[in-house]
Parts: sequence; C-alpha cells; structure tokens
Amino acid sequence: MRQLKQLLPKSLFWRSFLIVLIPVVLLQGAVALIFIDRHIENTTRRLAAGVAGDVAFLLDSLRVIDDPSLRQWTVQRAHEALQITLDRTEASAAEPLVAGRDSGFVTEALYRALFEHLRVPIEVREARAIQRFVMRVGLPEGTATLTVARKRLESTTTHIFFTWMVGAAVLFTGVAVIFLRNQLRPISRLARAAEAFGKGRPVTWLKPSGAAEVRQATAAFLEMQHRITRQITQRTEMLAGVSHDLRAPLTRMRLELALLASSKSRHEADIRALEADVVEMEHMIDEYIAFARGQEGEAPVETDLAALLDDVVEGASRRGASIALQTERPLAVTLRPGAMKRCITNLVDNAIRYGGAVKVATLRRGAAIEIAVEDDGPGIPEADRERVFRPFVRLDASRDPNRGGTGLGLTIARDIARGHGGDLTLSEAEGGGVRVVLRLPV
Ligand SMILES: Nc1ncnc2c1ncn2[C@@H]1O[C@H](COP(=O)(O)OP(=O)(O)OP(=O)(O)O)[C@@H](O)[C@H]1O
Ligand SMILES: [Mg+2]
Repeated sequence: MRQLKQLLPKSLFWRSFLIVLIPVVLLQGAVALIFIDRHIENTTRRLAAGVAGDVAFLLDSLRVIDDPSLRQWTVQRAHEALQITLDRTEASAAEPLVAGRDSGFVTEALYRALFEHLRVPIEVREARAIQRFVMRVGLPEGTATLTVARKRLESTTTHIFFTWMVGAAVLFTGVAVIFLRNQLRPISRLARAAEAFGKGRPVTWLKPSGAAEVRQATAAFLEMQHRITRQITQRTEMLAGVSHDLRAPLTRMRLELALLASSKSRHEADIRALEADVVEMEHMIDEYIAFARGQEGEAPVETDLAALLDDVVEGASRRGASIALQTERPLAVTLRPGAMKRCITNLVDNAIRYGGAVKVATLRRGAAIEIAVEDDGPGIPEADRERVFRPFVRLDASRDPNRGGTGLGLTIARDIARGHGGDLTLSEAEGGGVRVVLRLPV
C-alpha cells in the first residue's frame, strides 16, 4: 500500500489526470479486446474465404482453358480485378511442396481457407515489402505461385474503428486536461498566497475564483489575512502608544531628579540610582518605539542582503569592533530592509558586547538562506538558550549591571525573523562562543 502511494504522482493535477485517464484506458482496452476477438477474426476469416474461392476459381479455369491468348487474358483479368497475380507454375518435376505458413492470424486464416478449398499442400508467406501475401499451391500438375494484395484480407472498418477510438480518447482526455487545469489553477494560487503570507509578504493579488469550495477557502484565507494583519497593527499601535505616553512623565522625572541633584540634597546617592533607573526605562521605551516603527508599515522589497550586511558591519566597525563578513554577492532576497537590518544589528551587537571577534557568514541551504553570527565569547549555557529570547531576560545582569541592555534585543530579532517566515536559533560556536543562525525562506 505504501509502495503504491510512492508510485502515485504527488501533484493534484497528475492525480486528477490519472483519475480521468485510467477509466478511459480500461474501457478502451476492454472494447478493443472484445472487438479483436469477435469482429476482426470473423471478418478476416470471411475475407480469406473469398480470396481462397477466387484462387480456386482461377486455377480451375486455367486447367480447362487451352487457348494461350485466353489463358493470358484470364491471368491478366485476375490480376486487375481480383488483385490476385499468378507468378509462375512449376512443372511437377520440381520437388513436392512442403506445407507451411508464417505466424500471424491473417496468414493463418488464409492458409486454412486455401486448404479447405483446394485440399492440397499449401504454403503461405507474408511479403511485407510489397504489401502482399505469397501463396504456393501444390497442384498434382505442378506448384503454382500466386500473390494477393494485403488490402483484400484487411477490413478497412477495423482501421477506422481504431482511429476513431484512439482519436476520441485523446481528444476527450485533452479536453478534460484543459478543464482540470482551469479548476486546479485557483488551488495552486491559494497555496502560493498562503506561502507568501507565511513569509510576511502581504497578499493583495488574490481574488476568490474557481469552484465553490475553492472560492470559500480563498475567501476564508483573505479574511484570516485581514484579521491577522489587523491584530498585528493593533498590537503595534498599542505598544507604540503606551511607550510614547510613558516617555513624557519619564522625561519630567529625569528633569526633576536633575534639579534635585543640583540642589545638593542629602540623598545624592539615591537620586543617582533613580536617575540611572529612569535612563534605563527611557532606553527601553526608545527600543519599543523603534521596534514598533520598524515592523509597522514597512513593505517587503527585493533587497541585496549582502549590501545590507555590509551596512551593519560598517556601522559596527565604526564603533571599533572587528567583524569578518563572508557572503555571496549579490544576494537578492525579498524582505523588510529596515526591520531586517535591526534584527541583524541586534545579533552583531550582542556578539560584540558579550563576545569579541565576530564572524558573519551567509549560506544557501535548500529553499532558505542562513545568516550565521558567531563570536568567541563565553557563550550561553544550553539551559538558557530558549529563555534569552523572552523579553527583559538578561543573563549577565548579576555579573555586570553596567553593561547596558534591556534584554529586548533577541526578542525583537526573533520577532522580525518570524515575521519573515523564518526563525532564529542559538547554538554553540566552535570556540565555545555563541552561534546564532537566522534562517530566511526565499
Ligand atoms: N553573543 C552572546 N554571548 C553571550 N551571551 C549572550 C550573547 N547574546 C546574548 N547573550 C545573553 O542573552 C541576553 C539577552 O540578550 P538580548 O540581546 O535579548 O538583550 P541584551 O543584549 O541584554 O539587551 P539589548 O536589548 O540591549 O539587546 C543578554 O543579556 C546576554 O546575557
Ligand atoms: Mg542585545
């Protein structure tokens, strides 16, 4: 059963094609079998009997006609009217004829008919090159060699029947294929749309078309796309709104703290700590806003990923980091350039901040492109590799609180990767550092 399944074609088109084709072939096979069995054999036998009768009549006539010119006339007429040619008659001195025949059911029928009429040794051969059958008749007075046109033994209706049968089958299957294609096109279009949407590319070109069920599925897909897009927009807007509103009171607080600090208060240390907290909150909010902006409204466009990586690397190098980039060029991918740049920058920043020597490389793997960012830092313990993707999770918070960072970098990066239909995974680099792989379907 499983083997049978493997033999079956995968695509819906070829499967439907088989569903159409198999009954047609089976029906035609059955019809042809019965037809050959009954009709062709009957007709051939009758035609062979006719030829045998003509041959017997010709040979009998020649036996009783003495006048040479009349004999010649008879042979000539037989050639013209009956398509039976008397080649030669050999004297009985020649060795006697051994009965025999070629295989094939026409030859067989002819052989039998001749034998029934003449009751002497008969030999029948097929001369394909001249489209004739050669008959040798072992008469008491000598061996006669005659030929008969193949046409006289083949019924033309058989050819017509087969031509019509195969022709009609090809025609009807062709028509079925055209209709099938038209029915299947909306389904493959829907599949392409779902795939594109999964990769974060909004689908605007899809219209419900085709059979009722396909229309229904398309309409449902469009509705789903609309709902998801609306949900994302709402979430992003809310996030941006909250962040924005939080910034005003925070700014006020910072100013007030600055005033307090300058008035030489007794609680200078407390004030400094509060100030640091406020600065961190501001940083968080800035990041939120930037993130919300990056995801919102940006349309995917075909971008040279290699050039985008150059940008990121250059930016990091300006801040004094050393990064090795290895990529094929150009590397065209459809993506949201702003968001993607932010995503890769977050990864590279982490590698610089927590590692040291950074390597960035791209690699084609099947239908996806992988961007790997590696560093030679302390790495992330296996147990924490999922946790660090959660918002505000910072592993080194206890180790070194002054290293900045809000714990949002990886969260945002993964969100962007998934928004493109891809994902972000952490593993260990060769030197023990972190290896982040960003996989993007193309
Ligand atoms: N390359 C790395 N090597 C070691 N630890 C890392 C690496 N990248 C991330 N981490 C750990 O994962 C934590 C989460 O990283 P994430 O980028 O989300 O936040 P962050 O870098 O602390 O802050 P920011 O929001 O500014 O990026 C980091 O605090 C750090 O402990
Ligand atoms: Mg970070």
